[in-house]
Amino acid sequence: MADLSVTFCGVKFSNPFVLPSGIITEIPEHKKAIEAGVGGVTLKSLTKERREGNPLPRIWKYEYGMLNSVGLRNAGIEKGSQEVAHFLKLYGKETPIIISLFSTRVIEFVELVEKIAPFNPQFIELNLSCPNTVDELGTALGMEEGAAGKVITAVKKVSRKIPILAKLSPNVTEIGEIAKSCEDAGADAIVASNTFGPGMIIDIHKKKPVLGNKEGGVSGPGIFPITVRCVYDIYEAVKIPILAMGGVTKWQDVIEIIIAGATLVGVGTATYLKGMKVYDELKRDVSTYMEKVGIKNLKDIVGVAHGN
Ligand SMILES: Cc1cc2nc3c(=O)[nH]c(=O)nc-3n(C[C@H](O)[C@H](O)[C@H](O)COP(=O)(O)O)c2cc1C
Repeated sequence: MADLSVTFCGVKFSNPFVLPSGIITEIPEHKKAIEAGVGGVTLKSLTKERREGNPLPRIWKYEYGMLNSVGLRNAGIEKGSQEVAHFLKLYGKETPIIISLFSTRVIEFVELVEKIAPFNPQFIELNLSCPNTVDELGTALGMEEGAAGKVITAVKKVSRKIPILAKLSPNVTEIGEIAKSCEDAGADAIVASNTFGPGMIIDIHKKKPVLGNKEGGVSGPGIFPITVRCVYDIYEAVKIPILAMGGVTKWQDVIEIIIAGATLVGVGTATYLKGMKVYDELKRDVSTYMEKVGIKNLKDIVGVAHGN
């Protein structure tokens, strides 16, 4: 087996694969990904208040991926932070854990980080990518340079030494510029990116949308070329490392996204399509490729598609 280990913001991962936020909903259930051998785990996004989520059905698989309208269903920060603390105690030593936080307001993001930072997770990820998220001025956070940077600046004052990851939306015209404003504001890494869309699928027999919420974010193999372009643009714009996600399903995708500029690779929807064994499959196949072409460490190929 080739050496698949990767260092990201000074933290060592045994392999580059990360479970993205929300793929598993309940905090204790995230252990399934650890048992499956993933390199790092992002927990389901927590919000200030408990959220029930959208009406069922919330998930719909289709030929090229999936639509979801989970609507940030979670227990809220009070109960959620206790679950997070317990999870970190059990698994935080063996596997890097990323705590995902979501808000629609800058001030609330600060409160959430203040609540989580004392538990000392390896990373805090700010989900800046929901199109329904606005700052005090009504601008969607993460969709506009100034707004995303404002959140990072505010949060960095209370985040102690915990690296802050900015998770962006692909639904923007200049993702590189937004990533740059996050870097300038002090973000330690960029996560690119969240679901694309929203999309809609209509049942032609029932003559109505399949999701209870009618529309939902699109993930899985169909959006992979968008992810590649986002990561490529971000790599051109910033120096901080990138955790890429959005449609990665097979070993060729892993190599492609790393040469576009990713250091870590999120694999989410593929676990719905192939099961948790996808992590073992990717580790085996990427390792075989590395040995075949003589790659000693994945860091040697990060971003090599640039300049060609
Ligand atoms: C069912 C489901 C729930 C999700 N929930 C969240 C969430 O709570 N927070 C978040 O930042 N992203 C959420 N996402 C987006 C994923 O973290 C990821 O960015 C996206 O699915 C693209 O990666 P993939 O194609 O490998 O799944 C969710 C995705 C799915 C499919």
